[in-house]
Amino acid sequence: MATKTPIPRHIQRAILGHILGCQPEELIGAIPSLSSQQQVMFEEMKGLFSSGVPLSRIIGFREFWSLKFFLNQSTLDPRPDSETLVQSALEHIPNNKQSSLLDLGTGSGCLALSILHERADLSGTLVDNNLEALEQAKYNARYHNLNDRCTFIHSSWLENVSGHFNYIVSNPPYISHKAYEKLADNVKNHDPQGALIAKKNGLDCYETILKQLAVKKVTFNLAFFEIGFDQEKSVSELISNAGFEVCKTVRDLAGHPRVIIFKP
Ligand SMILES: C[S@@+](CC[C@H](N)C(=O)[O-])C[C@H]1O[C@@H](n2cnc3c(N)ncnc32)[C@H](O)[C@@H]1O
Repeated sequence: MATKTPIPRHIQRAILGHILGCQPEELIGAIPSLSSQQQVMFEEMKGLFSSGVPLSRIIGFREFWSLKFFLNQSTLDPRPDSETLVQSALEHIPNNKQSSLLDLGTGSGCLALSILHERADLSGTLVDNNLEALEQAKYNARYHNLNDRCTFIHSSWLENVSGHFNYIVSNPPYISHKAYEKLADNVKNHDPQGALIAKKNGLDCYETILKQLAVKKVTFNLAFFEIGFDQEKSVSELISNAGFEVCKTVRDLAGHPRVIIFKP
């Protein structure tokens, strides 16, 4: 008979916290009493987890930059590595100074909204070509009381965007078709392909954004691209070829190149 792998306690607490509407930490050392309906939900959700459904898809949100980001089927589940981009941007965006940020491929809104949450004088323009993702970003902006400082644009990259932005951030799809095939099933089954895969060996979206930036309908002071761990050289070349200057590459906690900062 196959033995079932036990579900880690912190996962069980997260599920229970979701069911009971409390913080998982409040359940440490506690034995909560559940109604029969809650008990059924608990068992069902544990079953989903055991069958490979990510916790964030079961409870409907992911914690990113210590904030809750609600997800739907069109939003990427935010990755901890993307906090490197938030950290890098915050190191360059001063406090108490009015400025503007453009987030290309916003998904759940996790990048722009985390940065706006830390910088009260910053306004954000959040762009995605997926309407359902954009709706989720709007919901998350309202949830964090940031909607007054946000504009949402349905656009394929810069097609419907114009003007000057102090900062641009983007975590575009950057996984090649070949690399996608090798991803774990729980990624392939639950993250939208449109948020992950890019043609031209993963470089197509960078190339398109850079081409659109080069015609200067949108201008900027500083831009931050998240990149795949093996894309530093190829994306840096695309940036230089488009006429921009690479300032710096920032590594993630695992030591991989993760963010390229560039300027006009
Ligand atoms: C890797 S996900 C990033 C989501 C979110 N910013 C994050 O860091 O978790 C890429 C996002 O780009 C969006 N996207 C893909 N192609 C696009 C396009 N042509 N124009 C605008 N957004 C696009 C996807 O819908 C997705 O939300």
